[in-house]
Amino acid sequence: MRIPVKLISVDGPPPPGFDDAGDGSIEAADGASLADVLAKLGLAADEAYATLVNGEPVAAAERRRRRLKAGDSLTVFPPIKGGALDRGQRPAGDSRLESPITPPLTGGHPMPKILDDLHDDHMNMARLYDLLGRELMTFKNGELPDYELVQKILDYCLAYPDQVHHPKEDLVFRKLKARDPAAAESIGDLAEEHEKLAAFTRRFATALANVLEDEQLPRDWFVDLANDFLAFSRRHMQMEEVLLFPAARKLLTPADWAEIEKAMVRRFARPSDDDRRERFEAGLGEIMAWGKAAESETPVVPPAESPAP
Ligand SMILES: [Fe+2]
Ligand SMILES: [Fe+2]
Repeated sequence: MRIPVKLISVDGPPPPGFDDAGDGSIEAADGASLADVLAKLGLAADEAYATLVNGEPVAAAERRRRRLKAGDSLTVFPPIKGGALDRGQRPAGDSRLESPITPPLTGGHPMPKILDDLHDDHMNMARLYDLLGRELMTFKNGELPDYELVQKILDYCLAYPDQVHHPKEDLVFRKLKARDPAAAESIGDLAEEHEKLAAFTRRFATALANVLEDEQLPRDWFVDLANDFLAFSRRHMQMEEVLLFPAARKLLTPADWAEIEKAMVRRFARPSDDDRRERFEAGLGEIMAWGKAAESETPVVPPAESPAP
């Protein structure tokens, strides 16, 4: 039987027959275990990988017992366990500037409204990252990016996740941890990741301020910082789409969701929260419209055809 496999953000070159997006398939004997298939992919020894069969997480300890059958599909994802995203962990090349977030895995469970909203946030952030990546490519090619647009995107990235998006995810994660500690453990330390993401964003924002003040700063240095930020952010969102949201959808009960909803109402009940929400919506709308207009005006030149000076 052939098992379709999706490798998400797995470092190193894709196995033979897999495309750059990590999509491929592998031949396995009927009744092969998940561990057997991972071994064929050269991943068996690395327990840092999270595995999902048909969108459902399978713990490392279960991989030898879990048998696969025709029609199953496998997703492999390396969760970030709070370690720094150092250069050794990053995939090479500037494709990171362009790689889109992987769409969420769809299961048979209805999407609670909170997860729906969090997913919409991710799609919006992915769009902002695409716009940012486009401006960075312009900068890398030695041309003048739209600094004002970059600044607006960064302002949004500095404020919205910490003030709105992450507190909601933290509520979901805390509830998941209470409901199923093992599932939460396989995801890692979400609060720590959010802190790290905020640190990457601040570092990038500081670098942008420096570049605006001193045009002589090396472009590669700035693009590297931007890559760090974009790679970590995208990977973090992918992890949530692939691990956190499906686990929450599967394991949390209607009572859990009602409690999360209540906690959210308490957290965001002030009149100033409504004002803030409107400001964020307006700011996001402005960036999207700006980016759309910029896209229709200036064609992007592929870096291979127009190398940086
Ligand atoms: Fe998050
Ligand atoms: Fe998120």
